[in-house]
Amino acid sequence: MIKKKYLNDFYYKKSKKLNLRSRSWFKIYEINNKFNLFKKYMNVIDLGSSPGGWSLFLSKYIKVNSIYACDIIYMKSLYNVNFFKGDLNNINDYNNFINFIKHDKVNAVISDMLSNTSGFKLIDNYNNINFLNIAFKISLKKLLKGGFLITKFLQNPNINLFIKKISLYFNEIKIFKPNSSKSFSREFYIIAKNFL
Ligand SMILES: C[S@@+](CC[C@H](N)C(=O)[O-])C[C@H]1O[C@@H](n2cnc3c(N)ncnc32)[C@H](O)[C@@H]1O
Repeated sequence: MIKKKYLNDFYYKKSKKLNLRSRSWFKIYEINNKFNLFKKYMNVIDLGSSPGGWSLFLSKYIKVNSIYACDIIYMKSLYNVNFFKGDLNNINDYNNFINFIKHDKVNAVISDMLSNTSGFKLIDNYNNINFLNIAFKISLKKLLKGGFLITKFLQNPNINLFIKKISLYFNEIKIFKPNSSKSFSREFYIIAKNFL
């Protein structure tokens, strides 16, 4: 069931009107407008993809070459999107997803992964850093030189350590909060460009 607080939300209503699958569509749209990242020829890995706002943006708006999407929750099919249903915290699912990706290397890894909040900051922060590390591990394995990583994070005390770690592998790192991201949420995005 949709929470009441979303029903009056501008981006939620707009996403419903435009049939965009999720309000997250606007976040990737804003990120791309700001950093001019996606091109038609690209192959992209989309982590935590359901219900498919980001995949839809890549498939229909940018028209990228191919997308490999993964989520623990089923996602309806989309043109050029190869969907794998699996839990990236589970080592078997993780390995199967890596093998599912036909391209040896891709141009971009994007991750909007988020688990249900537990209400305990320590646990939520741990889960979030864990997702960041999964997205980073996949980037190390699958990104082409010059590629980029976009990943959601929740503001937390360990984030600087994570940024320090990935800055050894990317030439340029930016932090961005789209307007469509709720102002009261701790959500931000890391845009790590130019994989070395
Ligand atoms: C904010 S939503 C993503 C929205 C999506 N980017 C879109 O545009 O529609 C976060 C997603 O992360 C997924 N997720 C959470 N834990 C996961 C896990 N362990 N493995 C894979 N996906 C996971 C959730 O099922 C959820 O669909």
